[in-house]
Amino acid sequence: MFLIIENISKNFGFDSKANLVLDNVNLLIDKGEFVCLVGPSGCGKSTLLNIIAGLESASCGRIILNGSVVRDAGIDRAVMFQEPALFPWLTVIDNVEFGMKMAGIKREERKRRAMKYLKMVHLTKFKDSYIHQLSGGMRQRVALARALAINSEVLLMDEPFSALDSQTRNILQLELQRIWIDTKKTIVFVTHNIEEAVVLADRVVVMSTNPGRVRKEFKIELSRPRIPESPDVTYYVRKITDELREEVEKVARDEYDGGWNVEKDLFLSNADSNMGIGL
Ligand SMILES: Nc1ncnc2c1ncn2[C@@H]1O[C@H](COP(=O)(O)OP(=O)(O)OP(=O)(O)O)[C@@H](O)[C@H]1O
Ligand SMILES: [Mg+2]
Repeated sequence: MFLIIENISKNFGFDSKANLVLDNVNLLIDKGEFVCLVGPSGCGKSTLLNIIAGLESASCGRIILNGSVVRDAGIDRAVMFQEPALFPWLTVIDNVEFGMKMAGIKREERKRRAMKYLKMVHLTKFKDSYIHQLSGGMRQRVALARALAINSEVLLMDEPFSALDSQTRNILQLELQRIWIDTKKTIVFVTHNIEEAVVLADRVVVMSTNPGRVRKEFKIELSRPRIPESPDVTYYVRKITDELREEVEKVARDEYDGGWNVEKDLFLSNADSNMGIGL
């Protein structure tokens, strides 16, 4: 197995049970597999992703990548966050080259790869622009090109499209599907959006909360590219939404006051936004 998440538990602070965020999480991920993690807010998705990235340490368990135990961050794992975290004083191409520069890759090769990935995300024309001259969607595409250019086998993505409007998001989902087909990277992608998870993933892992555990896994056996509105996608979205309903209700009970009506406030009034604000 390529990426092994083995008995991962995470505790913030010293009071063992009260701060248990992840409890014995186990996942086996194949090389080239696209896995999406979904679950209620606070269930530990980002924490788990950061542990795989080596940015956070586990209290128990280990991550094994390609036969070696992960101890800290490394260029075999590129990470992409919700905010693109680009350098405003650098041009688009210099931003894409930055990670490669840190990795000691020679100038010629850096340029070649930067151009290749800028082309892949359709930003060649903007290579000499500065970040403030780009839209939110373009910035995320720069961050994606930068992550791809490192040539890591694993791409870890934490809600990278969630701040974007739905049209831009759909375009980037299509681009990511195309890029994944071309590059066959192993991707672990965190999202609140179940439709996004179904469109992108080979497998959707549903997490439960308090403490975070793997609740259920869904294999998405649909050909690509996948279109969000297609009946096949809708079928899986419905199944996964049903699975998550109980978890979202649990969060709502824990977090909100007595006046909160889960059914009404989280689901019915948010019919067009997938799972509403609780997810
Ligand atoms: N550095 C920290 N110190 C203490 N507690 C933390 C820390 N980071 C995260 N937590 C707690 O761990 C839990 C899981 O947080 P995490 O950010 O992993 O959740 P998440 O599933 O990514 O949520 P969201 O969907 O809202 O992004 C939360 O209860 C949070 O308060
Ligand atoms: Mg998070």
